[in-house]
Amino acid sequence: MTSSTPDPETAKYVESTPTSRELQDEAEQYLPGGSSRGTAYFAPYPIFVERGEGHYIHDVDGNRYLDFMLNATSLIMGHAHPEITWALSEQAARGVAFSGPTAVQIRLAEMLCERIPSMELVRFTSSGTEATLNAIRVARAYTGKHGIAKFEGGYHGSHEYASISVHPAADELDPDGPTAVPEFPGMPPSVAEEVVVLPYNDLDACEAILGERHKGLACVIMEAVVSNFGYAPAEIGFLRGMRDLTRDLGMLLVFDEVQSLRITPGGAQEMFGVEPDLTALGKIIGGGMPAGAFGGRRDIMSLFDPGRGADAIPHAGTFNANPMTMTAGETTMRHLTPEVYERMNRLGGMLRAKLQSVFDEMDMPVQVTGIASFFGIHFTDAPVTDYRSMLAGDQWMTKALFTGLLNEGILLQQSCAGSLSTLTTERHVDGLVDAVRRVVGRVRE
Ligand SMILES: Cc1ncc(COP(=O)(O)O)c(C=O)c1O
Repeated sequence: MTSSTPDPETAKYVESTPTSRELQDEAEQYLPGGSSRGTAYFAPYPIFVERGEGHYIHDVDGNRYLDFMLNATSLIMGHAHPEITWALSEQAARGVAFSGPTAVQIRLAEMLCERIPSMELVRFTSSGTEATLNAIRVARAYTGKHGIAKFEGGYHGSHEYASISVHPAADELDPDGPTAVPEFPGMPPSVAEEVVVLPYNDLDACEAILGERHKGLACVIMEAVVSNFGYAPAEIGFLRGMRDLTRDLGMLLVFDEVQSLRITPGGAQEMFGVEPDLTALGKIIGGGMPAGAFGGRRDIMSLFDPGRGADAIPHAGTFNANPMTMTAGETTMRHLTPEVYERMNRLGGMLRAKLQSVFDEMDMPVQVTGIASFFGIHFTDAPVTDYRSMLAGDQWMTKALFTGLLNEGILLQQSCAGSLSTLTTERHVDGLVDAVRRVVGRVRE
């Protein structure tokens, strides 16, 4: 825990969260930094959660927060939704995990394949990390090439080959363009050698780089709506260009839709009309339970078919397709009709417009990004289109707004991005907009 003199918003936060502070001290005795998840920590210490209910979470000090973090966008139906808790308790009574398959995994797989345009076959995992890892693995097996390309600032989970140039610091950036920067010390240099890093939304640069390197590259992995950029969507011409380029150069195109499946029933590929070869999923498909999946073209995914004998790619996972996750996922997917998406996305548009007018009224250079039910706030005067324009935002203001909103009873992601849920109403939207106005007013003073 840091102990420097806090700013007024942090001081107020500390005053209202004494039990969380005590629990953080206790947690630090047994867990590094008191945590099992880097993103769950924020300075001076995170709130410890007592329970969640609908759009709200309650901390151990009795404070209530309107939750737009929603466990990193995964809780699209909010907390403890009665339909999901009922389905889970029914399943728990019948057993939580078996080594054999269950019928519910077929139902969820069928729904995903029917909704997602490019998905012919799908495999379940227990996390989005395993989903992108396996998508990359099968791309290598299919193409017979080892390297991969990803974008500067793109997050695809915590495995080795995804952990390149995710959050490079400003002083690590080569002004001439992206380079492979390892995310953690001790990474074998061979990993960075096998990962080519590309600049987002710059088709000419991608053509030049991939034109030179494609012979060693199995795939390009990318998000069409980039979570790390406050959910800035790709320019459509860029996305179409990447589709054509990868096809022409003999690489597979992998869409990471771990987050973006929440924008339409068929994800970003449906919204933009661009079909990848493979897609990685996670978050909402598990209805709040640990989840991931990857799938795509039948001829590629068939490489996992155990009927191929020794030729099949092995894919194990003790909790893959466990019936608790499958049941919560099925309940969620059934709930997410086109009308539900339409309503949530309309409120998302309203929120982004209202937030932008707050900053415009205050004459502040702020970019409100996002699409559908996603939003992001950046304290910068230039449009956010790639990692470097995102990094240009004022990080001090971002932290101040995040902490100030906690004091207003609102939880966002630490980057001041977030997402709506099926429970969000216009009242919640206005609550967030008014709180942002108050916090920014206070912080500017
Ligand atoms: C775009 C994206 N890909 C992959 C992952 C990894 O998913 P998980 O945390 O389930 O391993 C995440 C998680 O935040 C994500 O946002």
